Amino acid sequence: FEVLWDAAAADKGGWPSFMAKEVSEEPEAVANTLRGRMRDGQVVIPELDGLDGLFAGITRIIVIACGTAAYAGMVGKYALEQWTRVPVDVELAHEFRYRDPVIGADTLVVSISQSGETMDTLMAVKYARERGAKTLSICNTQGATIPRESDAIVYTHAGPEVAVASTKAFVAQITALYLLALHIGRVRGSLSPTEAAQQVLELEAIPDKITRILHLEQARIEQFAAWMADTRSVLFLGRHVGYPIALEGALKLKEISYIHAEGFAAGELKHGPIALIEPGQPVFVIVPSPRESALLHSKVVSNIQEIRARGARVIAVAEEGDAAVLPFADEVLRIPLAGPLFEPLLAVVPLHIFAMGLATAKGLDVDQPRNLAKSVTVE
Ligand code: AGP
Repeated sequence: FEVLWDAAAADKGGWPSFMAKEVSEEPEAVANTLRGRMRDGQVVIPELDGLDGLFAGITRIIVIACGTAAYAGMVGKYALEQWTRVPVDVELAHEFRYRDPVIGADTLVVSISQSGETMDTLMAVKYARERGAKTLSICNTQGATIPRESDAIVYTHAGPEVAVASTKAFVAQITALYLLALHIGRVRGSLSPTEAAQQVLELEAIPDKITRILHLEQARIEQFAAWMADTRSVLFLGRHVGYPIALEGALKLKEISYIHAEGFAAGELKHGPIALIEPGQPVFVIVPSPRESALLHSKVVSNIQEIRARGARVIAVAEEGDAAVLPFADEVLRIPLAGPLFEPLLAVVPLHIFAMGLATAKGLDVDQPRNLAKSVTVE
């Protein structure tokens, strides 16, 4: 393995770490996952040719995964439900098969796994198949065990992800889920071609929007991450599709900087977590677009006011031009405008950069964090 690792090390392409290289590849991970799967404004996933029957009779979708992949699934749930009109649940794979779930031939179980070797997820897929469910694997590793155990496969094309902390695979997983949702929506007729074409345009614009964040914000984020190197706790708040991004931001920070971090649904604040707010407590807040969801935007801005009134240090991730957050945030990280379901693909990028910047400032190995493996092949 050492030899392999040394050889791979040569492939950092001049980047200080694999994670830095892989964050820089997030735009192409999305673009490569989209490539060849959209035609005349419609999504047609070639790997699913001839499998329309897999989607026609389903009455529910269960997404199963672990860690970051599960958070991608939580983001994908919103688009899957909106575009397929099929109820979607997202479950942690290691919990799923121990709760005697009600599943059968009408259930589509979608597994998400970068490595395709995660034992918790593999065992859950096998369990689902034994109980008659249809299985579809979203995977970044060609020919891995989980895709081989599934009825259908949609590969992400993020390229090899070496750093233990998943970044480019995460945005590729969300992209694949959106493609799947649009593909199923077309097959089931639950989405008009016009609506689908609008979402395809949004997807096609994402790579350049991620590139814009990397170009405009990365240096600044790394700078204030360094200032925060002695931080002992960071909280992350998000709402709607921003909530899984809050969870992902917290996980990224935990796993590579060893700092306590926790993600919350912003609406939960007054149900307990606000007790954690004390002067100087850093809190990232993923702010919904005011253009698309004025009500959610206003609720999150009032959350920011509540925590600011108690001394929190607020770092807002907000769309370009959103001036409402300015009076209440210590830092505002800007993301380009996008449709509400597409904001997660952008809002996560500053959080990946922040985690990497803080861990680097602490002199830690961002690629090989302590206690962790790239693929957890034991239950
Ligand atoms: C992500 O940063 C972590 N390394 C971990 O949560 C990972 O996402 C999880 O173990 C699932 O791995 P998989 O995608 O290879 O199945």
